[in-house]
Amino acid sequence: MSAKVDIQFRLNGVDRRVEVPPTMSALTMLRDVLDLTGTKYGCGEGECGACTIRVDGVTLNSCLMFAVDCDGREVVTIEGLVADPAGERLQQKFVEYGAVQCGFCTPGLVVQAHHVLESHPHPGRAEIQRGIEGNLCRCTGYKKIVEAIEDAGKMGSDPKLGGARP
Ligand code: FES
Ligand code: FES
Repeated sequence: MSAKVDIQFRLNGVDRRVEVPPTMSALTMLRDVLDLTGTKYGCGEGECGACTIRVDGVTLNSCLMFAVDCDGREVVTIEGLVADPAGERLQQKFVEYGAVQCGFCTPGLVVQAHHVLESHPHPGRAEIQRGIEGNLCRCTGYKKIVEAIEDAGKMGSDPKLGGARP
């Protein structure tokens, strides 16, 4: 068995140090080593987006990334968005619009939608559809998901509702 590699990175705002096998995926490290099971294993082949995380501000499929490639980087998972105002708004709107059924795709979609709202504070439907095109949902038919994200964007313009945008 190959030797483990010592890596250090910032995970959801906290410095972490772990030893991982060189071929372990970032997804397996998050779920099986660090017990962050919010990030889901869907296809394992970069097709479904269930494993979406943010690395240095960019969303990636963690099933396609080696854990060792997290070394020195800033990683955010769905757990890191719980207390974030935009993450909170998105989760609230997903529930309100019935955009969650089995919920398997939801963590990846919320991480991706959070990225969409960062890029386009008040996105239209076309921007949302483009933004989440790599995230598959087998239950909702996407309409409610798009509406939830759109409303979360509108809500973000109201400081009373947790939005800080002008
Ligand atoms: S599990 Fe990573 S894209 Fe499907
Ligand atoms: S809610 Fe079931 S896959 Fe999206």
